[in-house]
Amino acid sequence: MNNNIKRGAIIVLASVALFQSADVSAHSKRVEDLLSRMTVAEKVGQLNQLSGWGYAPGMTAMIRAGQVSSLLNEVDPVVVNKLQKVAVDSTRLGIPLIFARDVIHGFKTMFPIPLGQAATWDAETVRQGAAIAADEASSAGVRWTFSPMVDIARDARWGRIAEGFGEDPYLTSLLGVAMVKGYQGDDLSRPNTMAACTKHFAGYGYGEGGRDYNSAYIAPGVLEDVILPPFEACAKAGSATFMNSFNEINGIPANASHYLLKDKLRKAWNYDGMVVSDWNSAMQMVPQGYARDLRDAARIAALAGMDMDMESHAYIGNLQDLVEKGEVSMAVLDSLTANVLTLKERLGLFDNPYVDLGKANRYYAPESLKAARQAAAMSAILLKNDGVLPLKARPGRIAVAGPMADAKHDQNGTWSFDMEKERTVTPLASLRERYGKKNVIDARGLEFSRDKERAHIDRAVAAAADADIILYFAGEEAVLSGEAHCRTDLTLPGAQAAELQALKALDKPVVVVVMAGRPLEISEQNDLADAIVYYFHPGTMGGPAIVDVLSGDFNPQGHLPVCLPRTSGQMPLYYAQTNTGRPASEIVLIDDIPLEAGQTSTGCTSFYLDAGNTPLYPFGYGLSYTEFDFSPVRLSSATMDREGNITATCTVTNKGDREGTTIAQLYVGDKVASLVQPVKVMKNFEKIILKPGESRDVNFTITADNLMFTDRNMNRVVEPGEFNVWIASDSQTGKPVTFNLN
Ligand code: GLC
Repeated sequence: MNNNIKRGAIIVLASVALFQSADVSAHSKRVEDLLSRMTVAEKVGQLNQLSGWGYAPGMTAMIRAGQVSSLLNEVDPVVVNKLQKVAVDSTRLGIPLIFARDVIHGFKTMFPIPLGQAATWDAETVRQGAAIAADEASSAGVRWTFSPMVDIARDARWGRIAEGFGEDPYLTSLLGVAMVKGYQGDDLSRPNTMAACTKHFAGYGYGEGGRDYNSAYIAPGVLEDVILPPFEACAKAGSATFMNSFNEINGIPANASHYLLKDKLRKAWNYDGMVVSDWNSAMQMVPQGYARDLRDAARIAALAGMDMDMESHAYIGNLQDLVEKGEVSMAVLDSLTANVLTLKERLGLFDNPYVDLGKANRYYAPESLKAARQAAAMSAILLKNDGVLPLKARPGRIAVAGPMADAKHDQNGTWSFDMEKERTVTPLASLRERYGKKNVIDARGLEFSRDKERAHIDRAVAAAADADIILYFAGEEAVLSGEAHCRTDLTLPGAQAAELQALKALDKPVVVVVMAGRPLEISEQNDLADAIVYYFHPGTMGGPAIVDVLSGDFNPQGHLPVCLPRTSGQMPLYYAQTNTGRPASEIVLIDDIPLEAGQTSTGCTSFYLDAGNTPLYPFGYGLSYTEFDFSPVRLSSATMDREGNITATCTVTNKGDREGTTIAQLYVGDKVASLVQPVKVMKNFEKIILKPGESRDVNFTITADNLMFTDRNMNRVVEPGEFNVWIASDSQTGKPVTFNLN
């Protein structure tokens, strides 16, 4: 080969090496020492995660061969210790395993699903629930949970809206960080903690049509300003791990995305944790049409920075060959391996690899059940109340109906693998305890949420005939939300609507309690009911919690973390919408359009003829048993300099006769920008408790940081001009005041 070609070849190889040179930031002495002694095969083995199948010969053989780094779904502490012993005692370097599980909203003591926890708008409640989950799960040997999920979700057709904190980046960031802190505590090496896993990175909630695993096409500004902020917040809060998502963003699978895994996570956010794939997601790049085969997928994922491969066998089957053939550099392999070893070191597993069986099975502690009951009560959202709530001290004969009234399994919602359903306390049981069995009629007809049996409805009507009030527990079975469970029709499943109609015909007060994994279309029930309480699958203590609310012992304080639609067809639906060039002014609904109406008679503005353009209940909405008045907003100045700040003040008054909690929400809107912005975006909120008649000023400081957005050149900018400010109890009410940024 002549010198020129040789020089050219050297330059190419050097640049390939540079491109693949991993950012091997300084690792601990132990990690560096292990790396120096590990063979390529041992390094590849540290990148392999499998779902456990017990203490079986096949599994122990792979562990002994150094081919397994982590197991998910092993939750028997005795088996965990036996498998760990194989890794520690029977492999050349004795590197311990990490045991993982989807502990999403509790391990044994189930808290509300994350969407329900979001309805509390309370970071401390979320943190506490995560800490209890970590204490319970770690006593079974689980030291790594695949939570929090901080995917922004604005399409309730997507079943996994259940697992996140809703539609708003600010609320999602706050609660995602709270969960990270709850799982990890102050010292991740303590045996009763778990490594958090912030997921699914990124854009999973934007799958087209709200269909799970679907391709996502996301505008750069939406990615930067809506989807990524919660991930950045959790990265900076020290989430020990991240999980990449299944979807592509604009044609690039998250598994392969250098933009996400390198430019954002490692470079912009300076993240030093470990990235695990989602289940088999590396292999899925083949059907996605991005990788030729599993070996190609392994190469792509390794070069992008996916550290650990969950269940696809892409790495364990191909990475050694890729390294030996130079398609993946040793530097890259070392970087991936170092991230895994560092996680094990942070968890204290090298020094303390085993579960303390003396402390195993610390489940359902009284204080945990109390915390779960409080969280569920705080998550209950009072949507409507014609005065029938709270129930009278002696409410007479209460007919309890609806498929969710005594649903010990389904009350816990999705991702409740380890709960014991007989520990679930249901509304029916709690009502009987509170009001006496003889005053509570079991008027259940439909036996599960999808039940359509007409005879069951007749049974309910007959049972409720001489009741004084009907409590109808509507909703979804757990399996109807969560992963791979998307629905195009968000109305109540089965014949619940018909059953409620039939019960309403008895002409008695009707309270509807919805227990679901997502926002449902309840417009018809909203018209029928005298009161509606909505709570997203509330978990183990959902029964006592709802009785605390219905009885008035607990004044409801939940607020919606997502909009409730008028119709399913409005999806995707969220408050932070742009104004469009033809904002809907006067809405002419389909039944009000005269015959042979003129082509332009409905106004040619942006709304649906059969649903309008507003939700049934907006983001941020929630009532109380008292009433709050929000004064007009006052600004400390009508103008602000870029380095300055402005204080927005609102006086909130409790006009009722009992103490209550409300949430003052600060929304800001950039009226004119070089990239069209949403009409309003929530920038802050404050929960306030007021005694009857008490007034208090709520003050929010607004700085230039609150006004930033990502412009068309991907720069974070603040542009001079006018901004609107609202302080209100939901995203739809209140009149704005305006200031000018110089
Ligand atoms: C699933 C989910 C992910 C979960 C993982 C392990 O497919 O997408 O959220 O943590 O696999 O169960």
